[in-house]
Amino acid sequence: MPVSPPTEVVASGVPAQLARDMTIAEQHDWLQTFLRRRPVSRRGLLLGGLAGAGAATLGTTPFGRAAYAATTADAPLLVGGRHTAFGADPARQLRLTGQLTRNPGRGKVLLDIGPTRNLGGTVEAEIRPLLSQVPQVDGSILRVEQFYVHAAFDRLAPGREYYYRFRVPGGATTPIQAVRTGHAKGRHGGPFGFTMMGDHGSNTTPPGDPRGVFDDDYYKDDNEPTVAHASAITAAIARLDPHFHLLAGDICYADPSGAGKPPKRTTTGAPPTGFDNYDPTVWDVYLSDIELSASRTPWMFATGNHDMEALYSPHGYGGHAARLDLPTDGPKGCPSVYSFVYGNVAVLSLDADAVSFEIKTNTGYSGGAQTSWVERTLKAYRADPDIDFIIAFFHHCAYSTTSQHASDGGVRAAWTKLFDTYQVDLVLQGHNHLYERTDPIRANAPTREAPDGSTVDPAKDGTIYITAGSAGRPRYQFQTGEQETYRGRIVPASNVVPNSYVWAPDGTKTPESISWSRTRYDNYAFVAVESTPGTPGGTSCLTVRGVNEHGTEFDRVTLRRAVPHHR
Ligand SMILES: [Fe+2]
Repeated sequence: MPVSPPTEVVASGVPAQLARDMTIAEQHDWLQTFLRRRPVSRRGLLLGGLAGAGAATLGTTPFGRAAYAATTADAPLLVGGRHTAFGADPARQLRLTGQLTRNPGRGKVLLDIGPTRNLGGTVEAEIRPLLSQVPQVDGSILRVEQFYVHAAFDRLAPGREYYYRFRVPGGATTPIQAVRTGHAKGRHGGPFGFTMMGDHGSNTTPPGDPRGVFDDDYYKDDNEPTVAHASAITAAIARLDPHFHLLAGDICYADPSGAGKPPKRTTTGAPPTGFDNYDPTVWDVYLSDIELSASRTPWMFATGNHDMEALYSPHGYGGHAARLDLPTDGPKGCPSVYSFVYGNVAVLSLDADAVSFEIKTNTGYSGGAQTSWVERTLKAYRADPDIDFIIAFFHHCAYSTTSQHASDGGVRAAWTKLFDTYQVDLVLQGHNHLYERTDPIRANAPTREAPDGSTVDPAKDGTIYITAGSAGRPRYQFQTGEQETYRGRIVPASNVVPNSYVWAPDGTKTPESISWSRTRYDNYAFVAVESTPGTPGGTSCLTVRGVNEHGTEFDRVTLRRAVPHHR
């Protein structure tokens, strides 16, 4: 098995025949050496810029490869792609981010913020430039410099709305937008909701790129061809107006590879082949696409195999540090690993790239630091009387049955015993492009049946695992003979799947017959969760729903935990 399976790892400009045996760190070193011989000239740089003010007014994205090419120094400076995040303390910390259409030069970008639409406060935003250099098949190098603006607030009031806008030199502003801080830890903030999905991508073609290569539209005839699935999922989430959103990795697919689609550019052109699949401007259209929800709702990201971008150090995650704002309370050296508490729910974002047996491009990079942090963190949360539910989300699946990836033994070996010990209530996974929910599992086996509509006691019953890599990329299939089973179409006694498999340490598939597969839905979907905190001596509930791209619920399970009496 290659270290970097060509269709599963971002092609960042290293020839394919070399990249397949390289880790992300080795690919990064190769690129650095290659690029050192070709220094950047300012003339060769595609700096952020507008193709023309008219393009923006017509509603097309001002970003993308063509827009950069058309840059002039006096192109309008605007902020787009606004997205928000929590810091490690959602009750007090918000991170507000956007992307500039071009280099602001010495100009300052300001952020106005306040508790009403009158705003009232102003801070200077931090500008993070990101230079991307991608060797191309024809010997040239695609060079793009993007500029992101960030504002961090650490001492806000819990559970309230704030209004903000970005302001650029010359006075142009973004519309005033509301965003919310989280409930303080505990049960006093009342009910709240959040959503989750993975494997998203974009239905928008970056300007200057061919249609159907870097967007999700190449496969649309596979189901409901008139629906732009990734956009429909974002819109359905925005309609729910959740208090936060979790994305379990494989965020924007800035390279077009991946199961269901052969790489188009790496297989053409004269040797050395394997250059040029990665296009950093896909991030521009992606951040514009999710702005509908992410400018209002904090989007919290985990990293998947398509988020390891060898251009950027460390571990291929350096680009995310420029574009996104992830909490920094995780283990040292693991930038996409973190946790936060929202009301009575603790959430851990884990990096399954570091433990996968299937795709080993980043496997082992944390040297065990992540897993010992997982243990410490779970132990502290489970001992905290103000926290009822613990949720972990990450990319590769501990328990899933699809024909493409199924279950990853590396995830099981690293974490599932810890999930048992500390009674993790719910695990949310991506990677497999469909929806699958298990019965509660403990010690690698289901403990009871949990059909649609049932109520589960995780403390007694174990952990429910949901796969929802169903946010926009081409759908996967279940195993041969394995049927979908969901509300209105329940197949009795279909929880046994005799022909699934789990990835072994040597990268081969170990066949397994499993009996924990309860709900299977092979269509575009996300998870919607509502937390209803209880009172002392009562019960806290977590309602977990499978919802399709049209907003229709097809699966539901309620988790409950006893709330301790006053001490
Ligand atoms: Fe994936």
